[in-house]
Amino acid sequence: MHKKIVIGNLKMNPCSRQERDRYVKEIKKELFEIKKMREAEMVICPPAIYLEKFLREIKSKKLFFGAQNAFWEKRGAYTGENSISMIADLGVKFLIVGHSERRAYFGETDEDVNKKVVAAIEEKITPIVCVGETREERERGEIKDKITKQLVRDLQAVSKVKIKELIIAYEPIWAIGTGVTPTTEDVMEVNILIKKVLIDKLGLSPNRLPRIIYGGSVNFKNVKDVCLAPGMDGVLVGGESLHPTNFRKIFDEINMST
Ligand code: PGA
Repeated sequence: MHKKIVIGNLKMNPCSRQERDRYVKEIKKELFEIKKMREAEMVICPPAIYLEKFLREIKSKKLFFGAQNAFWEKRGAYTGENSISMIADLGVKFLIVGHSERRAYFGETDEDVNKKVVAAIEEKITPIVCVGETREERERGEIKDKITKQLVRDLQAVSKVKIKELIIAYEPIWAIGTGVTPTTEDVMEVNILIKKVLIDKLGLSPNRLPRIIYGGSVNFKNVKDVCLAPGMDGVLVGGESLHPTNFRKIFDEINMST
């Protein structure tokens, strides 16, 4: 059985060294509050420029680190990019891939996502593959088509054994940063849909599936409804991960659930 997982995506925050140092201090304090790691793992994904500092300053068995983005090539003339192998060399264990903001603002395609997934696995980094529909796609009834296509393309040519080890984050785009969340039933339906695609289209066996988590406006009040009740394996948290106490409270809900 996989452990549940709580991942904080800090996006383009904290915004200065001063803010960063305050955040590091607060996170350390919150980690101290966690008495026992029971049901869950915790991951924080800071901006790449702060990764090394976070890794050096927060040495805790309770926390892993992830990157928000990295490039599949190992070296060369790719101005502005950090490679997945550089990230791995730092000691980073997770990589967010295909976040809807990267797809929307930076033109990341399913093909790119697939290359990143493959490269991350090669570097022994766990990819967190984000999929999800827009409000319009949901209203037009295209959710099944959208998520199926994303999963099949993003995980193309990845072996079943490797798919089982990665993380799939269901992030309805309309729920990201909006304070609006799907109902427990909505999340449950997509959970079933993702499992069905993994089994029917990608050939996984029903008892060997990866962790499927939920992301989009998660807070410590709604985490039961969007994660625990629909049987998800964890959460991907944006806004609330910028507040270490709130993030720890989300973690507590999942860590203490049995
Ligand atoms: P949010 O972001 O929690 O601020 O909605 C989630 C995400 O983008 O991963």
